[in-house]
Amino acid sequence: MTIKIAILGLGTVGQGVYETLLSHGQYISEKLGTDTELVGVLVNDSSKQRNLPNNIPITTNYHDILSKDVDVIIEATVGDHPAFEYLSQAIEKGIHVITANKAMFARYGKKLKEKATKNQVHIGYEATTASGTPILRTLKQLLQVNQIEKMEAILNGTSNYILTEMTMNHTSFEDALEQAQEKGYAEANPSNDVDGHDAFYKSMILSELVYGQQPNWEYVYREGIREISNDQIQHAAQRGQKIKHIATVEMRNGEVAASIQPMQINDEHPLYSVDGVNNGITVHTDILGTFTLTGPGAGKLPTASAVIEDLVYVFHKEVKLEKQFI
Ligand code: NAP
Ligand code: HSE
Repeated sequence: MTIKIAILGLGTVGQGVYETLLSHGQYISEKLGTDTELVGVLVNDSSKQRNLPNNIPITTNYHDILSKDVDVIIEATVGDHPAFEYLSQAIEKGIHVITANKAMFARYGKKLKEKATKNQVHIGYEATTASGTPILRTLKQLLQVNQIEKMEAILNGTSNYILTEMTMNHTSFEDALEQAQEKGYAEANPSNDVDGHDAFYKSMILSELVYGQQPNWEYVYREGIREISNDQIQHAAQRGQKIKHIATVEMRNGEVAASIQPMQINDEHPLYSVDGVNNGITVHTDILGTFTLTGPGAGKLPTASAVIEDLVYVFHKEVKLEKQFI
């Protein structure tokens, strides 16, 4: 049996997934004990030039994708809709799904997980948070008994890249943002990055995963990095501090609380040295104590890495549904 894959969205992430399927096809087949085949790609604009061989069908009509005999859909489009409806329909047809779309997943992840359980399919979403740095599966599967008291995290690669450039190279905010866009780190609408929305969505996904609930979105303080000046950054540097954009999610008196905001931290803070496009999460637990995970937080290949690892996890013959990552 060949595993038939469809990709929704062929931008930075979708293209990275396609290229990784090509470059690592042999490893993937060896792990799965079977071949994979890309049977279709959905895009928005059919007139765009694509870097894809002619034998892979591209369509703007989702029904063309669903009408194929697809085993798994990889979703890398932008925004809540129609991504949510596309994945709902796929799950109802018994198709496994993997998504990188954190805005959609923060809002609809719970519904999709419930639907996936009901329809006995897997849903992979490691790529939604910190790109390929394996934070979600680490928290979900390797900390079963530890109670997580608090998480502090740098979750937006673009903001961290901009702040690092402003700190290290005195680059202006505008130039650093342009660089982040050129490198494929930024969202289609970069306001999502620099105004803190993206880090907010990732915080909500973490909250749902770790605490089984999200705080009321209206009560989450969210501030981005748009107003931070080079002068403020240099003043902080003179005091041995860096300005970092930090999300905090914690359990307080039985309720989850979260905030997303720029903070000045010194070199005693575990996130002080998380620079560039990297993300980092410091997790405070009751048994293990405190640990920090860091790694690439955005970009074509790091994000493709998360999607491909989810793909192998979903289809690995030893993964039973009851052990699924949802
Ligand atoms: P992108 O470069 O803007 O690409 C988006 C792709 O989605 C494009 O190919 C676009 O089609 C397609 N698309 C958008 N709306 C569509 C619709 N309604 N129907 C069909 N196709 C549609 O974005 P990206 O950077 O690859 O990000 C994709 C998703 O992954 C986003 O949700 C993002 O938040 C998430 N993500 C991104 C990164 C990253 O580092 N870039 C990392 C993790 C997660 P056209 O090509 O025809 O315009
Ligand atoms: N725009 C996002 C970021 C992509 O910069 O972190 C990764 O989710």
